[in-house]
Amino acid sequence: MNNYKRNLITCALPYANGPVHIGHLAGVYVPADIYVRYLRMRGRETLFVCGSDEHGVPITIKAKKEGCTPQDVVDRYHAIIKKSFEDFGIDFDIYSRTSSKVHSETASEFFRKLYDEGKFIEKESEQYYDEQAQTFLADRYIVGTCPKCGAEGAYGDQCEKCGSTLSPDELINPHSAISGGELVKRKTKHWYLPLDKYEGWLKEWILDGHKEWKTNVYGQCKSWIDGGLQPRAVSRDLEWGVPVPVEGAEGKVLYVWFDAPIGYISNTKELLPNDWEKWWKSSDTKLVHFIGKDNIVFHCIVFPSMLKAYGDGYILPENVPANEFLNLEGDKISTSRNWAVWLHEYLEDFPGMQDVLRYVLCANAPETKDNDFTWKDFQTRNNSELVAIFGNFVNRAVVLTHKYFEGKVPANCRPEAIDAETLAQIPELKRSIETNIESYKFREALKDAMSLARLGNKYLTDTEPWAVAKTDMERTSSILYTSLQICANLAVAFAPFLPFSIKKLDRILNVENLGWDDLGKDNILEVGHQLNKAELLFAKVEDAQIDAQLAKLEASKVANEAAAAAAAAQNMKPAPAKDECSFEEFEKMDIRTATVLEAERVPKTDKLLKLTIDTGLDKRVIVSGIAQYYTPEEMVGKQICILANLKPRAIKGIESKGMILMARQEDGKMRFVTPAETLTNGATIG
Ligand code: 2FM
Ligand code: ZN
Repeated sequence: MNNYKRNLITCALPYANGPVHIGHLAGVYVPADIYVRYLRMRGRETLFVCGSDEHGVPITIKAKKEGCTPQDVVDRYHAIIKKSFEDFGIDFDIYSRTSSKVHSETASEFFRKLYDEGKFIEKESEQYYDEQAQTFLADRYIVGTCPKCGAEGAYGDQCEKCGSTLSPDELINPHSAISGGELVKRKTKHWYLPLDKYEGWLKEWILDGHKEWKTNVYGQCKSWIDGGLQPRAVSRDLEWGVPVPVEGAEGKVLYVWFDAPIGYISNTKELLPNDWEKWWKSSDTKLVHFIGKDNIVFHCIVFPSMLKAYGDGYILPENVPANEFLNLEGDKISTSRNWAVWLHEYLEDFPGMQDVLRYVLCANAPETKDNDFTWKDFQTRNNSELVAIFGNFVNRAVVLTHKYFEGKVPANCRPEAIDAETLAQIPELKRSIETNIESYKFREALKDAMSLARLGNKYLTDTEPWAVAKTDMERTSSILYTSLQICANLAVAFAPFLPFSIKKLDRILNVENLGWDDLGKDNILEVGHQLNKAELLFAKVEDAQIDAQLAKLEASKVANEAAAAAAAAQNMKPAPAKDECSFEEFEKMDIRTATVLEAERVPKTDKLLKLTIDTGLDKRVIVSGIAQYYTPEEMVGKQICILANLKPRAIKGIESKGMILMARQEDGKMRFVTPAETLTNGATIG
């Protein structure tokens, strides 16, 4: 199993329909980047491939909303996403895009070969059609009620509320996401990959052969396979995408989940046109896909079945270390609700602090369960861990070396047991970091690296070189010698996690290219080696910065609630029509105008107002259940309409004579009815 010669690491291709946020970083890109940096430091040949996923319904929906073309959308977001990854040091060898020529050629060829070899089923079936928009609808173009959790607004392929994978046929009350209208069924032809035929092979390959996969990944695969696999359509009736490359397929494109994973191959091809097969078709390449949990089925079942069907030596993933989801301040991260910390915005607010976010997202990564990002935790981890432990230790060691030894690594003149005992702990931490990273436990690995910083901090606190220096420079030199060796070890241990800070630390220590094998050594820095001046590795995060972030989120919440209310009002259906009544019946109603003279709350009730009104005929009292909608002050002086001849009745001991006419919206909101202009009281309505 360990005879791999090279590592091919891929990260889920993010949809180019919006910028990337902390959830993306925590779930996929930070762990993958740590893994790749570690492999490279160990001298293992590694290729790190990613790119934008530029097809699929979310992109066309965004384009429709914005009144531009899908190409405009992907051009804009591809550039933003690519820059965010660069800014956060996610060190891809290539970050390309699925709208590239190489990709469409590669994906077409892939489909064509499977088609020619009869690997697909061709089938006509009834699919949802939007007559108003004159188009077939699939996936996210169809919305309705989730059959699993009852949430409104679930998509034809997934419910974002409960995460269930759905098909349009499962949705309750499906309707068009474009026109909002009802849907009809029409016949259309598509190509299907018969996953059922691969079931036996998948069982053997995953359920028997990859029991070491993360529990969440293995569990999802097992439940899909045990549930019985069905043929899956690999084409769609859409305009945006890679055209289906066969005759009779006009107006059809490859399903985004068919073409996107092929993007890993085409991006490798784009980077290494002559050498890409070495990466994809050699059994000594270790392929690892880093993804989020919503992508498990596609990477563990669908894409491997596609590769298996294609044959020709394609390798399969050795592991798919999918993470769970990161929430934000207790709520699901959502692009559409703007409930997110966007990477480009984070960098505007915390310039130069990429590593703090990398650190917090790894320390709190959703590796085994969904986790929560909170700004308070961000502040605490920065101030109490990075600043107070790691930064403080390095700073004290370097500043004291400048103070007592002109910034040169002093000789180890008078070692004591504590020095060796401290340094002796590093090889064990090194082994633990290695085991953890190699089994995709990045949180644990980061904890190990932090233990090394704690070790250094404790060593300095225990040995107190600033106090010893008053009487014993020889011992002081040994303490600082030891401390500086720990600093150099930290520069190695943290390099996969905090690339920006380690660059700074390398500069301070005046070292270049420390390798993984240096970790654990007690003599990385030679005696007499000149250090550069001290710089702070990390800066404190102030309360005001956290408050500003929380205020930003609060503003998002308020805007969302307003938007949701407006959308709900727009979607509101009127109450069902009542049974017919005769004109004579209507004529019996004495409806007329009146003006409110006095208004007060009915004591010990939440809903009732007692209104004294002038009906033109008399002054009378009406008790009305409108206290939720109007204050007494708001009612005084208003002209209203009343049903004047309703039989009087006692409400809370007050005789109420008549009823105020109210318009009631389906969500329960009520407003009183008033003439378009003020009339004399008692004007009859009918
Ligand atoms: O879930 C997503 O964001 C998809 N765009 C991931 C695609 S991964 C790969 F298959 F391309
Ligand atoms: Zn649901």
